[in-house]
Amino acid sequence: MQLFLDGSDIDKIRKFSDLGLIDGVTTNPSIILKSGKNMIEIISELADIVSGSVSAEVSALDSEKMVEEGVKLSKIAENITVKLPITWDGLGACNTLSKKGISVNMTLCFSASQALLAAKAGADYVSPFIGRLDDLNLEGVDLISDIKLIYSNYKFSTKILAASIRTINHVKQCAHLGADVATIPIDIFERLVKHPLTDSGLTQFTADWEKTGQSII
Ligand code: E4P
Repeated sequence: MQLFLDGSDIDKIRKFSDLGLIDGVTTNPSIILKSGKNMIEIISELADIVSGSVSAEVSALDSEKMVEEGVKLSKIAENITVKLPITWDGLGACNTLSKKGISVNMTLCFSASQALLAAKAGADYVSPFIGRLDDLNLEGVDLISDIKLIYSNYKFSTKILAASIRTINHVKQCAHLGADVATIPIDIFERLVKHPLTDSGLTQFTADWEKTGQSII
């Protein structure tokens, strides 16, 4: 499973990218608002830091303008993926942009039927929002397995990009279910490595090693 970061904190994204752990980044208008920065500048900086896909979302709601914005965003860097909402207009724009060879991520996916349409429209990625489904007392991760089954039935090449991840358990469930990508908020990503037994074990090993009086280098 590829790991994307869902956010725009340049320093942290660079840090984890330098560790070789990050395959891409996703953003959305709320993330851009929170950053307080100019969208084009942020996207171009992110596209420099990571070599993989960087999703940049259009703001237009009609197909023609989505295409116009998508073409402009795609010119920021070669690794830009244009993010479009799953609406009829979004699907039309996806069809047009995909035919131009521009990578598209269909976002705000909450049903298997929407995911089917995204694949038919030629999307590179579809983003099922599992956390927001959980918020409605539904089992968000079930959508990942539904889409997985449908895509494998028909050998669609659209990648399942699990989004709206809220917990470490979501990451595990996505990996179990075979999501192609999980886009993870930076605070959740930072917690992936944490385990109290790792901390206590390391404290003990370090103390015991010091008692040996030895050194490796
Ligand atoms: C990813 O592409 C989405 O923009 C993001 O995961 C949404 O997450 P949220 O539901 O926590 O806002």
